[in-house]
Amino acid sequence: MATLSNTQVCLQMEEGFPTDGSTDDKLKFLIQYAILAPSVRNSQPWNFRVEDGVIRLHLDRSRARRTTDPELRELIISCGAALQHLCVAARRFGFNLEVETLPEGKPSLLAIVRLDGKKKATEDETIMFYAIHKWLNVPQPFRAKKKVPDALLDELSRMANTDNTWLHVARESAGRDTIAGLIAEGDLAQKKGEEERKQQAAAAPAPIKRRKQDKRSILQIDVAEGAGHIASYIQSFFKRPVGESKIIARSKKSLTDSEAVLVILGTHENSPASWLAAGQTLAAILLRGLAVGVRASFLNQPVQLPELRNKLIEDLDLPGYPQVLLHLGYPESAQNARSASPDQVREEFI
Ligand SMILES: Cc1cc2nc3c(=O)[nH]c(=O)nc-3n(C[C@H](O)[C@H](O)[C@H](O)COP(=O)(O)O)c2cc1C
Repeated sequence: MATLSNTQVCLQMEEGFPTDGSTDDKLKFLIQYAILAPSVRNSQPWNFRVEDGVIRLHLDRSRARRTTDPELRELIISCGAALQHLCVAARRFGFNLEVETLPEGKPSLLAIVRLDGKKKATEDETIMFYAIHKWLNVPQPFRAKKKVPDALLDELSRMANTDNTWLHVARESAGRDTIAGLIAEGDLAQKKGEEERKQQAAAAPAPIKRRKQDKRSILQIDVAEGAGHIASYIQSFFKRPVGESKIIARSKKSLTDSEAVLVILGTHENSPASWLAAGQTLAAILLRGLAVGVRASFLNQPVQLPELRNKLIEDLDLPGYPQVLLHLGYPESAQNARSASPDQVREEFI
């Protein structure tokens, strides 16, 4: 059986748009694109409910991993990305959306979304829509010897520069070095933490049932245990065995040698509303990059570990809270391809 290309799948999907259907039918159709958004560990922590011409976006807390994301920060960022995909898809079919975020002030209901009038999509919006179907992730290291154009990085920075979010692009070698070093540190810390946890689990006696009156919640226990591993590792920064220093130096070098560029997406506040906005901006810049062949790899280790996150803020003098750290570049297959200009993308899709 012949397999369909991404473009064919996407054109086939579009034909199903319920032009004569109810508002609920249209909203349900658009959700098909929202759920293609990237999410942390592919957890897809969203729950969309459609009723009476309204989408309610709920956070699915059951997807949480308490040790690495106790505040549910990354889950909420993922839902923001899905929300952005929804907006991009709506524009493709000629609709504006009215989005009310955190209407009850609690992250369980993240957004209420309604159709809000019609307006034909611009070419740029159409191109971003088609990028939804492109494959995003490139495993490290990026090997292509091809630079991301400065003009694109400027454009991504402008897109990210909102009341809620900002983008730091590591253009200078000193900044690249700092970030790469912290990524390598974070990588090793997480691996060691994982190993220690496994060893402790293997050596531990059968679990004791928690009593009802135990004051520590499961969340607190998980956080304390996860943080303990990492903290003990970070404290050992300066008495590190030679073998570990070599591992760190190697992984740092592979990041700094690459033509791919390190960028940090951050927020001015550190709250569920900002995380949701970070997810929206994240999806927007990823789709814009994808539209011209630029892929991303997530390198979030230093953002996930509080000690390294603070170091990142201080060493780079960042204007707020880093939320997502990305490596942006071209896949190896693009090495010899001509640069994909917006015009070429238009030719491919429109
Ligand atoms: C908030 C957020 C954090 C993420 N963190 C990581 C990460 O630390 N490492 C990683 O490889 N991918 C990360 N991802 C990417 C997802 O793992 C990826 O989108 C998902 O697994 C789907 O894979 P695909 O894009 O290849 O289909 C993250 C995505 C989001 C939205």
